[in-house]
Amino acid sequence: MKRHLEQKVVTQNVILTGLRGVGKTVLLETFRPIALASGWLWAGADLSESASVAEETLATRILADIALVTSAFVVHERKQLELGFVQSEKVIRQPLNYDILRNMYEQTPGLVADKLKAVLEFVWSVLPQQAIRGVVFAYDEAQNLADHAHHNQYPLSLLLEVFQSLQRKQIPYLLVLTGLPTLFPKLVEARTYAERMFHILFLKQLDTNASREAIMQPIEVAGCPIKFTEETVNSIVQLSGGYPYFIQYICKEVFDVWIAKIRSGDIPSVPTADIVRKLDTDFFQGRWSRVTDRQRELLQVIATLSTCDDEFTVQEIVNGSKEVLTKGFSASHVNQMLASIADAGLVFKNRVGKYSLAVPLLSQFIRRQTAQGMITIPPLPRTGV
Ligand SMILES: Nc1ncnc2c1ncn2[C@@H]1O[C@H](COP(=O)(O)OP(=O)(O)OP(=O)(O)O)[C@@H](O)[C@H]1O
Ligand SMILES: [Mg+2]
Repeated sequence: MKRHLEQKVVTQNVILTGLRGVGKTVLLETFRPIALASGWLWAGADLSESASVAEETLATRILADIALVTSAFVVHERKQLELGFVQSEKVIRQPLNYDILRNMYEQTPGLVADKLKAVLEFVWSVLPQQAIRGVVFAYDEAQNLADHAHHNQYPLSLLLEVFQSLQRKQIPYLLVLTGLPTLFPKLVEARTYAERMFHILFLKQLDTNASREAIMQPIEVAGCPIKFTEETVNSIVQLSGGYPYFIQYICKEVFDVWIAKIRSGDIPSVPTADIVRKLDTDFFQGRWSRVTDRQRELLQVIATLSTCDDEFTVQEIVNGSKEVLTKGFSASHVNQMLASIADAGLVFKNRVGKYSLAVPLLSQFIRRQTAQGMITIPPLPRTGV
């Protein structure tokens, strides 16, 4: 991030991506003070689905975000004639707020992109350029952005086009997008130059030491009634697969159960089976219910592949299906089904056409469904998380 903030002319923007709950939002928040300390201003928000649905709504989002920055920094002066016999001019000073920017936007002729570019260009021209280096536009949940050709709405392309054009004019606006791994392929699909516009940071799960720290630090405060043994910490690390969201979820469960047990004088252990059952209901079942039985069968084949927690190809699935099903899948069938499963948010396709499971620890959940006899594929023995 620091290196990207060194750019005088912005040619490289940042994408921070990774699976659900891996820590993207938290990391994005830590970028903010770094940017401010390096003399950048920070604008941004969550890109909710409603903000991303149409070009106008996205433009409104961006205007609202930049207005927060400008109204703190820039005083807009305009002259107004005073009423009375002697005509005199009064200077009105007001912060450059949303209303003023919106007005300017409305009065600029052209398409949404032209209007937005004009306002953002104007904003840079009035910011105190000696004092600041540029503006970071940081958008979380950016995978919500999508072009909708059938509605003739292209908000995703709009964002890329506006920033590319401003950056070409050497206006130091840096785009930082955060989102699920579907984000980058989507950007490239909308505009091929997106490939060159972004540096991608792919967040993986925490390593063992960082996981241990995440488990231990919160209970190391004075007065905490709970201590974990080495064995307990290890089993939480193992169960969580190093995903911060799961670490937090499991630790909360353990904490609640232990507090109750300690009060009644018992020596507690990690209620692994209960936690897994609760996680399945709270986290996985909702996603699992979005796919059909046939699609589940395909996911179960995927969960038998040795590459299931990494990347796998259509051909690997076809081969795998021949091993575990009486009637295997054809490549075209797999392709079709993967597209629907991707729409349901359970897999994603990367830039080189390989697939990955889109939810952390999903393969283990799928194997648990298999083991419960929901389908007929025999579970293969597996090791590790
Ligand atoms: N480095 C870390 N170490 C320990 N815990 C972390 C770390 N980063 C994030 N967390 C915790 O993990 C949880 C998930 O983090 P966060 O919300 O940032 O993930 P995310 O990737 O944005 O998730 P989502 O995909 O749902 O938006 C949070 O409760 C957070 O406090
Ligand atoms: Mg997040």
